[in-house]
Amino acid sequence: MTPPPRFVTLPEMRRAAHARLPRDVWNFGAGGAETETSRRRNRRALDRLAITQNILVDVRQIDLRTSLLGVPLSWPVAVAPMGGLVLFHPEGDVEMARGCGLADTLQFLSGATGWSVEDVAKAGTGPKMFQLYHHGDRGWVGELLARVDACNGYHSVCLTVDVQVIGRRERDIVNRYDPREAMKVAPNPRGPDSTYQARLTWDDVAWLQKTTKLPVGIKGIMTVRDARRAVDMGVRIIWVSNHGGRQLDHTEATIDALPRIADAVGGRAEIIVDGGFSRGTDVLKGLARGATVVAVGRTALWGLAVDGAPGVANAMDILRREVKTTMQLCGQTSITKLDPELVFRVD
Ligand SMILES: Cc1cc2nc3c(=O)[nH]c(=O)nc-3n(C[C@H](O)[C@H](O)[C@H](O)COP(=O)(O)O)c2cc1C
Repeated sequence: MTPPPRFVTLPEMRRAAHARLPRDVWNFGAGGAETETSRRRNRRALDRLAITQNILVDVRQIDLRTSLLGVPLSWPVAVAPMGGLVLFHPEGDVEMARGCGLADTLQFLSGATGWSVEDVAKAGTGPKMFQLYHHGDRGWVGELLARVDACNGYHSVCLTVDVQVIGRRERDIVNRYDPREAMKVAPNPRGPDSTYQARLTWDDVAWLQKTTKLPVGIKGIMTVRDARRAVDMGVRIIWVSNHGGRQLDHTEATIDALPRIADAVGGRAEIIVDGGFSRGTDVLKGLARGATVVAVGRTALWGLAVDGAPGVANAMDILRREVKTTMQLCGQTSITKLDPELVFRVD
């Protein structure tokens, strides 16, 4: 018999992670940039949305299945790419892959991983996609992309574009904490041009599309104009994100930017949203406002920190149960056919 899950609510897991992690590591994971307004605003904007209570619908059968770029998913939640997982668990990305496999959840592997893309591809049975940081050396990135392609385990490559420079994360600055030093990761042994992210332009997106066989996404889009331009270039995933409030401070909340962007994209690309999603009700709000998939960062991270792969699965199972219960209580039976009027702003 499988043992009962250690945790029964998500806040309990977050508290356990807080209690267990060294202070510097907790702050690196939980914190945001500068005043942390972007981070808090993500959460507040989610709380300002209400969900309509539709009644007298037969909700015994709930269908959570969906797909992203033709990849079937058992539910519409993904684990966002996170660098530095080794700080939270000794087996880092490989352990996260195992957890996502146990929970049959899409995993985005961070380009700032310390593990080989091959090892992560082999670990865990869940679907996977790859997040890229462009380190400036096209030769090196090209070789990495060829390896990602050759794994046959990654279904797309999403380029993160909101790390022109690292945001001023004041908790880390005050703690004199450099996660890159703690991770001991040198992603490019030839010596990355660390200023390259600052020079990244649309030309690099076109280059990426030519260089990988996989569909290309962009992570970090917050405006209609950028979303349109990306879609016009053939970008297949528009990822509405402010990096969990870790980069530019005082951005709009992602859940507020989402409907406009979804409208502009008009079904020509898939849409992912992230930033502060930590409850089943949040997931419904993201989907009702136009996303195909909601990604969670810290919610999965605390699971990894407290109990490794079973902890990730524990967190995803609680979230999945919340999504299902919310669907039942608001009278929706299919996650891909949510009532567009389901969610509205209340204050
Ligand atoms: C510890 C940590 C590391 C992260 N590393 C990356 C990364 O390597 N690449 C990336 O695109 N985003 C990274 N992110 C941002 C996440 O992908 C995601 O956008 C964000 O965490 C979503 O917000 P949430 O944590 O509130 O769910 C990181 C986030 C955290 C918390």
